[in-house]
Amino acid sequence: MTGPIIARTRAELLAAHGGSSVSFVPTMGALHDGHLQLLEHARPLGETLVASIFVNPTQFAPDEDFDAYPRTFDADLDVCARAGVDVVFAPSVPTMYPAGPGDSISVDPGPLGTVLEGSARPTHFRGVLTVVAKLFGLVRPDVAVFGEKDYQQLTLIRHLSRELALGVDIVGCPTVREPDGLAMSSRNRYLSEDDRKRAAYVSAALRAGVSAGPRGAESVLVAAAAVLETAGINPDYLVVTDPDLGPARPGAEARLLVAARVGTPRLLDNTSLTLGA
Ligand code: PAF
Repeated sequence: MTGPIIARTRAELLAAHGGSSVSFVPTMGALHDGHLQLLEHARPLGETLVASIFVNPTQFAPDEDFDAYPRTFDADLDVCARAGVDVVFAPSVPTMYPAGPGDSISVDPGPLGTVLEGSARPTHFRGVLTVVAKLFGLVRPDVAVFGEKDYQQLTLIRHLSRELALGVDIVGCPTVREPDGLAMSSRNRYLSEDDRKRAAYVSAALRAGVSAGPRGAESVLVAAAAVLETAGINPDYLVVTDPDLGPARPGAEARLLVAARVGTPRLLDNTSLTLGA
């Protein structure tokens, strides 16, 4: 199996993918089966498949886990090789932030960046959208694939590409789950054995919410909250919205989103559902 080409700069990227159409999966490394799914989803969408590996400092608050974030580059290359990635873009911090991580230009995520995850992590989405815009500028993909697990991130990146006319088609990929339903995440490795068992209640709560969908949004929230309570999980938020994270409408497609700290990590999950009229 020949491994992917590793590119560190825009010039190396250009040399690697020439003028071909590009499908792109941005990551922060620590790749797991969820990422493998994103890569496999992206594979047929372009002539050249590029994955980036960059732990982006600007999306971590000073008290968050930037230094401790798992860095597993060699294992990540194996995953990329298995998924048929052609080019791994692994830039340095100065390549991404020529004037330092406090570069004077950044992307304002607007009001949607201040709610849900944004209210717990006020600078997070500015960092995410800024790095994604820079990655799009360097990689110049035709299509980029992101996981639905980080649903607010996916929604904001759709807005970013559309509102800044970046010309990148944004594709969402369904969440990949462990056998007990826990959504795969690089931070699940921080769960203790006991917390790992409790963590399964987060997705169980979503399933209970989906079943209550025909009875309306209020019943969805009551049913999901009851499951969380069984496991002693107190959510940071548990909300029903429309698919674009606006107000939910009876009789329409909706999204149920939850965030909760279980031991050390904060777990995020969400699902689509249909609300009764
Ligand atoms: O979802 C992630 O891994 C990151 O937020 C992303 C999109 C790669 C930006 O750093």
